Amino acid sequence: MEESQLLIRRMQEADIPQVHEIDTLSLSLPWSERSYRFEVCENRAARPWVAEATLPDGSRKLAAMLVLWLILDEAHIATVAVHPDYRRKGIGLRLTAHALADAAQNGAKTAYLEVRAGNFSAQELYQKLGFRVEGVRPRYYRDNHEDALLMALENLNAEALQALAG
Ligand SMILES: CC(C)(COP(=O)(O)OP(=O)(O)OC[C@H]1O[C@@H](n2cnc3c(N)ncnc32)[C@H](O)[C@@H]1OP(=O)(O)O)[C@@H](O)C(=O)NCCC(=O)NCCS
Repeated sequence: MEESQLLIRRMQEADIPQVHEIDTLSLSLPWSERSYRFEVCENRAARPWVAEATLPDGSRKLAAMLVLWLILDEAHIATVAVHPDYRRKGIGLRLTAHALADAAQNGAKTAYLEVRAGNFSAQELYQKLGFRVEGVRPRYYRDNHEDALLMALENLNAEALQALAG
């Protein structure tokens, strides 16, 4: 898939069934469709995003989704996933960089996230964006009681992030 065929845009209510499918295929504790509806329609702190691919026949399919919460000068990446068919193409990095650049443009100075201690692919992605481990939340995940690493990225630089977003 060519990079030019990917559009990063805000999530809309009509996207939610596909967003939920990506979530279910990707994460062991997926959110409900109702949770996404709350983020899109009601949560004023939420900045939910999708990456939409245009297929050769002109149809469109969601390749990835991300929800960021922006509270004063702190951004929190609440969830992010790339559809299994679209992984290792740079989409997760671009989408995360785009969401962070937007947050920085809207006042965020620091970004935080939690990631499973065993989720090395996501940790590598976050490290490429400059995130560093700040602490551990023991037994954070309720399905297998896995620890969460708390990662932080300070001094968000909108221009540098936008350059990574492509
Ligand atoms: C983690 C995830 C979002 C990465 O998305 P992606 O689009 O495949 O990632 P990218 O192609 O942008 O990769 C960027 C970098 O992250 C790292 N990375 C991504 N997937 C990796 C993997 N499977 N193994 C090792 N490193 C990986 C690499 O450093 C990669 O750079 P490279 O391809 O130049 O080596 C995706 O694997 C996913 O949806 N996983 C399930 C959901 C999840 O874990 N979400 C995060 C919750 S905190």
